[in-house]
Amino acid sequence: MIKLLLFRLDAERAHKLTSALLRAAGATPIPGFIGRLVPPDDPILATECVGLHFANPLGLAAGFDKRAALIGPMAAMGFGHVEVGTVTPRPQPGNPQPRMFRLPEDAALINRLGFNSPGMLAVAHNLRDWRRNGRNRRAQRTPPIIGVNIGKNRATALERATEDYLAAFIALAPLADYVTINISSPNTPGLRKLHERAALDELLGTLAASNRQLAQPRSLFLKVSPDETPEQLAEVVQSGLAAGIAGFVATNTTLHRNDLRSARAPEIGGLSGQPLTARARAVISQLYTLTGGQLPIIGVGGIASANDAYGHICAGASLVQLYTGLIYGGPTLPYTLKHELAGLLRRDGFRTIREAVGSAHHTLLESPLA
Ligand SMILES: Cc1cc2nc3c(=O)[nH]c(=O)nc-3n(C[C@H](O)[C@H](O)[C@H](O)COP(=O)(O)O)c2cc1C
Repeated sequence: MIKLLLFRLDAERAHKLTSALLRAAGATPIPGFIGRLVPPDDPILATECVGLHFANPLGLAAGFDKRAALIGPMAAMGFGHVEVGTVTPRPQPGNPQPRMFRLPEDAALINRLGFNSPGMLAVAHNLRDWRRNGRNRRAQRTPPIIGVNIGKNRATALERATEDYLAAFIALAPLADYVTINISSPNTPGLRKLHERAALDELLGTLAASNRQLAQPRSLFLKVSPDETPEQLAEVVQSGLAAGIAGFVATNTTLHRNDLRSARAPEIGGLSGQPLTARARAVISQLYTLTGGQLPIIGVGGIASANDAYGHICAGASLVQLYTGLIYGGPTLPYTLKHELAGLLRRDGFRTIREAVGSAHHTLLESPLA
């Protein structure tokens, strides 16, 4: 019923309403209560990645909680990590509305939000608040791992993008468990040009150097687009390896429009959800091969079920995230997905998530046909 009501509203208004309700609930003992009510994560789902302990591999993808105001409620919903942002250094409103569209026939969304962000100072304030108050409210469970996803302001020229990322990094990295460098939103003009080697070398080199200055350096992840050629992706990996980043987030939304049925299909923006699953998985698979499985990949794109998540893991993802799946699957999705994922791991004889990571590649190698 709630879904029916929300789906009658414009997609962004529904998101704002849901966020306000979640925020209000987050200020009460409700998340802690739910946390105590639901069973703890199945131990088979626990995983170590970049030196961090994740109670389960499922995270909330960037874009849902751009302000770091929903961490408690999202943890209560069952996410083992929450990636907040994208955060820009200065506040900016994003593109004119409407800018977010549901494509129900395709189980997809198109958005052209364009980094609406309250800016790094407001997000830093919320993250400090979470550290001081929010974590204690649900101290009965492992607090979620917090990723902070950073970007550039639209008004900043592309040649000066590094300055923006650096400012956001300095303000937010000390408050994050890991940091994602987002160069892959299709809604900030020119942003994806940062996939090009020279620009990326400069950006990653600068951020990695700044990271080394921190008392506790953070793990840096690079969030990539699903629309790059294999050659471009190989260059991106070379650049990432040279800078010593921790891993990749694959992928952001796509500009491709293949066989969509919804009336909203021609809207401009990034497409997410089911039509992205195969494309994102192909990128995860390529990254896994290009890195020899040595760098962790956070697999995101079109996950709406345990099978989808498992497919990304077997293709090479150490962790997974979703956004669009939550819009169509609702707040119980994380719990059902985790429960079924544990079943799939056991069915195939895996004792840990880590054993399953990239297993599709190993099976191929061991096959007599290979
Ligand atoms: C409305 C909306 C806003 C998004 N905003 C961001 C963002 O600010 N930063 C980012 O890195 N990705 C953003 N994304 C992309 C998601 O994090 C994710 O990469 C993409 O949607 C694919 O996952 P999904 O199919 O599970 O939604 C956004 C996605 C949606 C649908």
